[in-house]
Amino acid sequence: MRVVFGWGRLERIEEEVERLKGGKVVFIADRAVRKAVEELNLSFDYEIFSDVEPEPEIGIVDDIIEKFSFDTVVGVGGGSTLDVAKLTAVAAGEKAKAVELVGKKLPERKCKLLLCPTTAGTGSEVTKLAVFKIPKREVKYVFDDESLYADIAIIDPKLTLSCPPHVTASSGIDAFCHAIEAYTSLFSNPISDMFAEKAIAIIPKALREAYANGENVRARTDMSFASLLAGIAFNSAGTGLGHALGYAHNHIHNSPHGKSVGITMPYVLQYNAIADLEKHARIARALGESGSSLRETALRAGIGFAKLLKDLGMPHKLSDVGAGEDDIEKIVDRIFLSEKHVRRNPRVVRREEMYDVVRKSIHGILREEEY
Ligand SMILES: [Fe+2]
Repeated sequence: MRVVFGWGRLERIEEEVERLKGGKVVFIADRAVRKAVEELNLSFDYEIFSDVEPEPEIGIVDDIIEKFSFDTVVGVGGGSTLDVAKLTAVAAGEKAKAVELVGKKLPERKCKLLLCPTTAGTGSEVTKLAVFKIPKREVKYVFDDESLYADIAIIDPKLTLSCPPHVTASSGIDAFCHAIEAYTSLFSNPISDMFAEKAIAIIPKALREAYANGENVRARTDMSFASLLAGIAFNSAGTGLGHALGYAHNHIHNSPHGKSVGITMPYVLQYNAIADLEKHARIARALGESGSSLRETALRAGIGFAKLLKDLGMPHKLSDVGAGEDDIEKIVDRIFLSEKHVRRNPRVVRREEMYDVVRKSIHGILREEEY
C-alpha cells in the first residue's frame, strides 16, 4: 500500500489515480465533501455517490454496485464512508450480495481502491477492517480480510479543518482508544508498540488543542498523523475490551462509535491495569497523571482518560447516555459477542467481573485511593 501524507495532498489526487491507471472512478464521499470533490475540476471520468448515512447497514454496498459502473473506488469521508468504499471495491463483480460475504473469506479485490479520510480517528484508510450493521445481528460485524487493504491512502489533514468540535472529539477519542488497546493487546509486538506509543504521546495534547480551536493547523496535522499511527498499530495488534464494551452498550444510546467506546474506557483501563502495570503507567503519564508507585500510576490511566473526556465535553459514565442498572445483564451478554476483542484483551474478561465493570461504568465509579 502507498501512503501519502501532507497538507492539501487531496488536490493532487489526479496523479494518484493516474498512477493506478484508474479507468472509470466512483467517489464514495460524505455529503459534506461532495462540493470539495466537484471543485477539484478533475479531468478523469467519474461519478459521485454521497448518500452514506453514519453507521451504515451493509445493503448500501449492493445499492452502489447496482447504480454505478466503475474500475476504481475512491472513498473520501469518515470511517463509515471509507468502510463502505472498501467493501464496495471488494464486492463489485461478485454474484453474491454483500451480506452473503459475512463470516466468509472475502474474494480478491478486482477494483482499484483509494482512500482519503476526512476525520482524524478511525485509521480505516490503512486497515484491513470494515465495520457494518448487519440485519438481525446484535452487534456490528467486523470484516477482517487482506482484500480490504487500499492501493493508496491519502491523508490530508486539511480535510479535517471543517470537522465540528463534537466530531473532532469523538473521532480523536476513537484513535486514542485504538492506540491504547493495540498497545495493551495480547497480540501487541515491538512494531505495533512503536506506532501505538507515538500516537499515545501525541493525542492528549493535540486532541485538546484541535477541539479547542479547529483552525489550529499544527494540532489538526498532529491528530491526522496520530490517527494514522494508531491505525497501523491496531491493524496488527487489534483492539480489546474497550471496543467490545463500546459495541455492547451502543444499542442504548446509538452514539457515534468513538463516543461509545470512549465513555467506558476509563473503567476498562482500571480493570486492565494490573495485567500490564508498566504499559498502563506509560498511558497514565502521557495523560499527565502520576502516583506514588508503578501500581498507583497505572491505575490513574483511567482517571486521566476521564479528565480528557471532560475537557472534550464528552460523557464519561453510562448514566449520562440513559443506561441504568436494568441494562447491566444485557450489556454483559453482548460483550461476549465480540469474541476476537475479548480474546485479545490483556486481562481475562471474566463474566462475573464484567458485572462490576459495567456497574462502575454506569455510575462513574473510579478508584482514586492511594493505599
Ligand atoms: Fe474504533
